Amino acid sequence: MRELNFNLQNLEATRLFANQLSATLKTGDIITFEGTLGAGKTEFCRALIHAIGYHEDVPSPTFSLLQTYEPELDDQQKPAIWHFDLYRLENSEDVLELGIEDGFDTAITLIEWPDKMGSYLPDGHLKIMLSMGDDEGSRNIKIICDDYWAIRLKDLKV
Ligand SMILES: Nc1ncnc2c1ncn2[C@@H]1O[C@H](COP(=O)(O)OP(=O)(O)OP(=O)(O)O)[C@@H](O)[C@H]1O
Ligand SMILES: [Mg+2]
Repeated sequence: MRELNFNLQNLEATRLFANQLSATLKTGDIITFEGTLGAGKTEFCRALIHAIGYHEDVPSPTFSLLQTYEPELDDQQKPAIWHFDLYRLENSEDVLELGIEDGFDTAITLIEWPDKMGSYLPDGHLKIMLSMGDDEGSRNIKIICDDYWAIRLKDLKV
């Protein structure tokens, strides 16, 4: 596994970084987000979803567990995005009832609190870990991935 580390000095830096990452994404990609409450998982997902071309509000799926973003009929080259927040998932197998396996095939899947789904999380996902930085408003981002992802992400920079 490869490990990439970056420091995002403020929210704008987080958005710019997410914009770069968004340009590399395609249907079938799975990205997980770990980090304490308020680390910035949802902000990062929101920036990705906006950068991919969904200009609507991006609420946190805290209670719904899942928010989906689907392209208009005349915009089919835009990938669908399924955004999960599994913090409130009680049993890992309940994730199947959310239809998550359909999303793996047909969308870019973003998952906050992936540990909640236990062994239902497939291998080969991109793992993003966010934590508070030293300065107020700064965040550290650690990306853990296989060689396939590392090649795709080689041009990422802050
Ligand atoms: N550099 C930064 N990157 C991301 N968010 C930042 C940054 N600096 C400050 N913030 C703030 O930190 C908060 C992050 O909240 P967010 O909802 O994204 O956290 P979360 O990790 O999704 O938490 P939860 O586990 O509750 O879902 C926001 O209020 C955001 O404005
Ligand atoms: Mg969140």
